[in-house]
Amino acid sequence: MQVRVLGSAAGGGFPQWNCNCHNCDGFRKGALNAQSRTQSSIAISEDGERWILCNASPDIRAQLASFEAMQPGRALRDTGINAVLLIDSQVDHATGLLMLREGMPLDVWCTAQVHDDLSSGFPLFRMLEHWNGGPQWHEVPATDQVSFTIPCAPSLTLTAIPLLSNAPPYSPRRNHPHPGDNIGLFIEDSRTGKTLLYAPGLGQPDDNILAWMARADTLLVDGTVWQDDEMLRCEVGTRTGQEMGHLAQSGPGGMIEVLDSMSASRKILIHINNTNPILDESSPERATLASHKIEVAYDGMHLELTGQA
Ligand code: MLT
Ligand code: MN
Ligand code: ZN
Repeated sequence: MQVRVLGSAAGGGFPQWNCNCHNCDGFRKGALNAQSRTQSSIAISEDGERWILCNASPDIRAQLASFEAMQPGRALRDTGINAVLLIDSQVDHATGLLMLREGMPLDVWCTAQVHDDLSSGFPLFRMLEHWNGGPQWHEVPATDQVSFTIPCAPSLTLTAIPLLSNAPPYSPRRNHPHPGDNIGLFIEDSRTGKTLLYAPGLGQPDDNILAWMARADTLLVDGTVWQDDEMLRCEVGTRTGQEMGHLAQSGPGGMIEVLDSMSASRKILIHINNTNPILDESSPERATLASHKIEVAYDGMHLELTGQA
């Protein structure tokens, strides 16, 4: 299986358009050893030709242009995107569907809760019906008791793991998490046995997600904030990581500690908020990650999970 990181930043991207925090300002001034990052999205493929777009970010146009496989040019109108899978109904993960309107109908996979939010508080599904019928919804079961496959990648067995995170502000379930609001995705390539766990919104590492993490060869998990109260410390927000449904990296019980207990061959953080000091490649926080063998995803990062260890 191949995995392409199209966007490695959290909502807002890096630098964020209206932000002058230490990182955003430092980046614009050329004073930070850092790369810009677009908003959260990856693409997954069994054969390198047909891709499952996993989350559709507001930055999708630039993301597709940056990856040749997304435009195979086999017909007058064509795309490498064969299906879209949404792991939640947040702005940074769903808005790109609007930019894909010329390609409707598209097969879109998500849970009933996500479909509900995107048909009411943020009614993308209903709006897009006016474009050739809009997205064709396929329900992702919000339980890890059953697996499913998507036709363009029959060898990839997908399992949705319900996560304790948070639904977006326009959801009736905001601050009352229900299974299906946010999922992690466990993917096993039945040809090689290789496994990936993708979970950019991981608020609380409960026993269930920990067990799935322990089975994964590659972990691509929540790297939003270094400290839970980072946005308050930076004076750019009022919400903690926990309130937004994201586990901080540092401190007792933090993501570094969780990852230390895992045997995965690669441990990679994704969905990095623009306030996070790990964006500065010369920062002590980044050195700490390196000492724990934890990587930081970047736009254009390409993973090939092959049979060879
Ligand atoms: C999140 O991941 O918590 C959201 O995407 C934040 C946002 O974009 O408002
Ligand atoms: Mn997000
Ligand atoms: Zn900023």
